[in-house]
Amino acid sequence: MANNIVVIGTQWGDEGKGKIVDLLTPHCSAVARFQGGHNAGHTLVLDGKKTVLHLIPSGILHDDTICYIGNGVVLSLAALEKEINELDSVNIAEKLKISASCVLILPSHIALDNAREAKRGKQAIGTTGRGIGPAYEDKVARRAIKLFDCRDKDILKEKVERLVGYHNFLLQHYFAAPAVDSQAVYEEIVRIYQRIQAMVCDVTTALAQVQADGGNILFEGAQGAMLDIDHGTYPYVTSSNTTASNAAAGTGLGPKAIDHVLGIAKAYTTRVGGGPFPTELFDDIGETIARVGHEVGASTGRPRRCGWFDAPVMRRAIINSSVDSLCITKLDVLDSLAEIKICVAYDLNGERVEMAPADPQLFKQCQPVYECLVGWQAVTQSVRDYEQLPENAKAYLKRIASLLGVSIDIISTSPERNDTIILKDLVND
Ligand code: IMP
Repeated sequence: MANNIVVIGTQWGDEGKGKIVDLLTPHCSAVARFQGGHNAGHTLVLDGKKTVLHLIPSGILHDDTICYIGNGVVLSLAALEKEINELDSVNIAEKLKISASCVLILPSHIALDNAREAKRGKQAIGTTGRGIGPAYEDKVARRAIKLFDCRDKDILKEKVERLVGYHNFLLQHYFAAPAVDSQAVYEEIVRIYQRIQAMVCDVTTALAQVQADGGNILFEGAQGAMLDIDHGTYPYVTSSNTTASNAAAGTGLGPKAIDHVLGIAKAYTTRVGGGPFPTELFDDIGETIARVGHEVGASTGRPRRCGWFDAPVMRRAIINSSVDSLCITKLDVLDSLAEIKICVAYDLNGERVEMAPADPQLFKQCQPVYECLVGWQAVTQSVRDYEQLPENAKAYLKRIASLLGVSIDIISTSPERNDTIILKDLVND
């Protein structure tokens, strides 16, 4: 039986997970999202055609794979409908299954997200403004509306009135923001639910069946390890566990369902929104990386902050997610640089630390300790054979692997699906 693989980001998101999921999908029976919502932005490029997905798993462009949205995902029906419309050439009813246990993101969650951010002023998290945090809050507070509530219109109406009424109280009386029309929220849910009803199912049972039939599952993470609600740079994080263990809880399978964890990392580091970022660059090199790497958020269009590769961040991510091997993306973005730095450790008040501290106050005080490598100043873009890489690029990758004690199994050299160096067959090994 082929392996079940979890693909997660090991930095602050946007590592290029979508491309790798898309690449591995033909070797998998099912692709499942397990956390986050439409805050994710996965850009896929096939034959020059770009598709940006926020909610639907990146495997959707392949004919023979079923895509699943697990219970751990917070679901905006409006965002789902928009994406389904954009994928009009895909037979979506056959290919997409959605867990009835997903929590719904309502327009009032979006209003709350934006009102909270505005109130935070300079301390704003820099959220995507998609209502993700408030929806997870309601889940934990046990007052959320789940997709299974949509089956009975009376129950749904009562729940929507109660929840939106509560949101409106906060919006009007705490944030001095306009109220949301609860009847309109209810009507939109009813309308879109009718359209997607046939796709709603018990995803846990369905995935267990995939396994029982000898199939394998690709779990598609969103965001990155340092945005994890428990293990990231709190409070500058997203509201779910982005680490690999959540692939189990977020689909209803157990931890033994995971055979291999593939950590995706850029050859440098980026982050969107606020929060500490020790290797951030504020100079021409940072600008070059941002320009060459098109470092603009796929969900929000915001410019991404850019910096050098950060080994202490990666070491924490590798432990948090039991990362078995790495895929390094966007190597080609560094092609023009004469010198490339790697942050090998931090200086924390005169002490050398190898691992990013869990305490955000300490993390903020960390100064990067750099090792300088000579750049390759040659084209790696679209290289598909490891031996064709310049020696300095190989040396850079080898240094990363040795600093982290984890092998690099995949290298991506452009956004195109096929511009990839595959050093190991993760599905069958
Ligand atoms: P939220 O997930 O919208 O609540 O945003 C919380 C933090 O996570 C912000 O810093 C966002 O920029 C960041 N974030 C959320 N989704 C992504 C993503 O897909 N890529 C990168 N950063 C993200």
